[in-house]
Amino acid sequence: MRKVSPFCAGWRFALVDGLAGTGKDPFAVTGAAVTGATGAAVEALFALGYSAAPVDIPHSMVPLPDNHFDEASLFVEGLYLKDFDAPDIPPGGRVFLDFEGVASACRLWLNGRPLGEHRGAYTPFSLDITDFLLPGEANRLMVLVSARENPEIPPFGGVVDYLVPGGIYRGVSLRIQDRVWLEELFARPKAGKAFREGVRYFCQAELSVEARLRGDAKLSGLGETLFHARLEKDGTLLASAAAKTKDCLDGSGSLVFRFPSLGRLEAWDVEAPSLYDLRVGLGDMDGLSIRIGFREAEFTTKGFFLNGRRLFLRGLNRHQSWPSVGYAMGPGPQRKDAEILFRDYGVRIVRASHYPQSRHFLDACDELGLLAFEELPGWQHIGGPVWKDQALNDLSDLILRDRNHPSIVLWGTRINESRDDHDFYTRSAALARKLDPDRQTGGVRYLKQSELLEDVYTFNDFTHGGGAARIADRRRTAGPQAPYMITEHNGHMFPTKRFDQEERLGEHARRHARVLDAAMGDQGISGCIGWCAFDYHTHKDFGSGDRICYHGVADMDRIPKYAALAYESQQDPARKIVLEAASLFAKGERGAARLLPIEVYTNCDAVDLYRSGALVGRFYPDRRTYPNLEHPPVILDDLIGLRIDAEGFSARDKKLFLRLASKAMAGGPDSLGLLDKAGFGLFMARTGLAYPAVEDLVKRYGLAWGVPEDCFEIAGILGGKEVARRRYGPETDARRLGLSADEAVLSFQPGGEWNATRVTVQALDGYDRPCRFSFLPVRVELEGPGRVLGPKEFSLVGGARAFWVATAGREGIIRVAAEVPGFARQTILITAEASE
Ligand code: GAL
Repeated sequence: MRKVSPFCAGWRFALVDGLAGTGKDPFAVTGAAVTGATGAAVEALFALGYSAAPVDIPHSMVPLPDNHFDEASLFVEGLYLKDFDAPDIPPGGRVFLDFEGVASACRLWLNGRPLGEHRGAYTPFSLDITDFLLPGEANRLMVLVSARENPEIPPFGGVVDYLVPGGIYRGVSLRIQDRVWLEELFARPKAGKAFREGVRYFCQAELSVEARLRGDAKLSGLGETLFHARLEKDGTLLASAAAKTKDCLDGSGSLVFRFPSLGRLEAWDVEAPSLYDLRVGLGDMDGLSIRIGFREAEFTTKGFFLNGRRLFLRGLNRHQSWPSVGYAMGPGPQRKDAEILFRDYGVRIVRASHYPQSRHFLDACDELGLLAFEELPGWQHIGGPVWKDQALNDLSDLILRDRNHPSIVLWGTRINESRDDHDFYTRSAALARKLDPDRQTGGVRYLKQSELLEDVYTFNDFTHGGGAARIADRRRTAGPQAPYMITEHNGHMFPTKRFDQEERLGEHARRHARVLDAAMGDQGISGCIGWCAFDYHTHKDFGSGDRICYHGVADMDRIPKYAALAYESQQDPARKIVLEAASLFAKGERGAARLLPIEVYTNCDAVDLYRSGALVGRFYPDRRTYPNLEHPPVILDDLIGLRIDAEGFSARDKKLFLRLASKAMAGGPDSLGLLDKAGFGLFMARTGLAYPAVEDLVKRYGLAWGVPEDCFEIAGILGGKEVARRRYGPETDARRLGLSADEAVLSFQPGGEWNATRVTVQALDGYDRPCRFSFLPVRVELEGPGRVLGPKEFSLVGGARAFWVATAGREGIIRVAAEVPGFARQTILITAEASE
């Protein structure tokens, strides 16, 4: 039977540069080792490694500074060592080391003998170490990792708008197999015609499963061994098939099980992502299980269809990096990203830009019902033949790793935004179709009318620059006959920091909403994926000069900007009621003290605005500006409304005054044209008020200068009833320190990848919102079986900041405290718990 043991704890690590002080030239040593020498040179490198510090996997070779650093500081080489006892091996059995991701290239030795090498930061690899093990002795594994940007390895060779922090940054395990084993399962679930019943989708399911066998090549002596495949749901057996060795081997080392009619099963759907367990066994020699889902997914010229109905794919791009640790993050935060995208921002699809992402992230997509578009690593540049072979290898490894995920609906077979390359992209599309005949292909381009060798024209559309033009004409871009999806918009067109001025944050949100609206207006567009979910680290040629692209709808800590509301508010209110203004209602934050207009992002039918307790009026979604969004923002363009009734003006004078006062408050007095001024004149003549009195009215009702307790409330109205309320106003003094963890219980697999949870610290105002302009220093203390990833002293940024707390391989209570001057110290407890 297969035995898989986690292999992530108890490593040691040293930067190769850092070892130079020993008097030996580490580069000469590595140079010798790299050529495959097994002698003194490698031993010398071992010796150097003795000074290495203990580390656990995932690991980043260099801590990633928040910003303002030179990316060259990441281009290092490092040496990882791990001592372990040789495991017991069944007769004829094999032992493997499985690496899930090492950035960007590595060479490995076991007991001084070269084991192999791997190139590429994002794909898994396995090494058969059986013949290198020393039974009964301590065995030493050495991994030399290079984070240098090798131009022969995608995405490198040109410029790249992201960084690839190096290290053994994903999990490692040790696997023992019998003499024959199941190398891989490829499930091909078919959903037949899916149909809806209540809130769930069902289908007439079919399934075929290919199992690839490895080991004793001829499988000699297996005799009557039975293979079996079982389909289960929550532990209940739904169907099974069995075969004897001689019946099912096809000579290629693969066997196929067919379940031609499984009958009516629940489909996997974004509303209810029903998953099934498929277990394949090989007598008592091996067993392997995967999760699968039955669904019909198709990009067509009439949009994207899931289980028979059209679904518009509102989405965001995601980079897989975090502050301090870069790529090296444990399972919890990987999963949390999917939850943030799905539950908080309510998106339907994520583009895993621009490389294969963590399996934990994709598992969470499967469980949540978040669709995914995955692509091979790269960024604009196409290299020479060696580079291209590497890219095709990456694509193949990506598809082999991920083709059983029901959430994945499209493979990206082009290098993001590269030029046409007929031969290369003919090969890549064919490769994807061969490895996965059931999924469509795309290939992200910025070129109009580029050669379509894939199934879907996936286009980065940066048409919208704030003006009238919102998206490119689909027919002219791709031709009318191509299924089509927008895979990026906004991003560098309007970088926005979470602590930017409100007008910019508001415009950032509007731009996302406008592009989404326009895309939804064309039934031929399958989806619209914004750039991007989270701010990210980058090279000097991109971003704001501090090595950060502030392109996210949230910052790197996953703390949202207003633009996240443009997505969040599109959700069905049955799932979650969204109501938030893209404003603090502060009287002087916007230029020229203009308060209006204010967007309220909501999925309610209407919004009632109250000022200091008095109803101003009811406001409705702005369907004129956003005719296609399901839930357009509600624009507050009047803060006076019914309150002016107290003045006893006639209906027409009241209307005139409100119109002019709102205009002046939105655009300043200079925005009033001749007609407006004449209107004011008329109002003055009819009411007998002099100019100073009118000005006074605007100040009193509009700006409400000097009015104690001037505050605003918005109430969300749904089905005629108030369902939510938010308050804004002058209580913006920092009242308390908020300290909260995403997870109260942090489970970890002993010896496996450490786990982590985000802890957010906030200076909160009287409305429980972060104090937008607070940059106070924070000091964090931790006691118990955990550690803080990154520095323990930092500043709040825009009133809030997050850090991550990781497990340390032991169970117990982790006590985390935060101190910020002027606030009572806050403490939270996180329980670290060992799991299977
Ligand atoms: C695109 C590119 C992304 C990112 C984005 C910024 O051209 O595909 O990776 O750089 O621009 O807006």
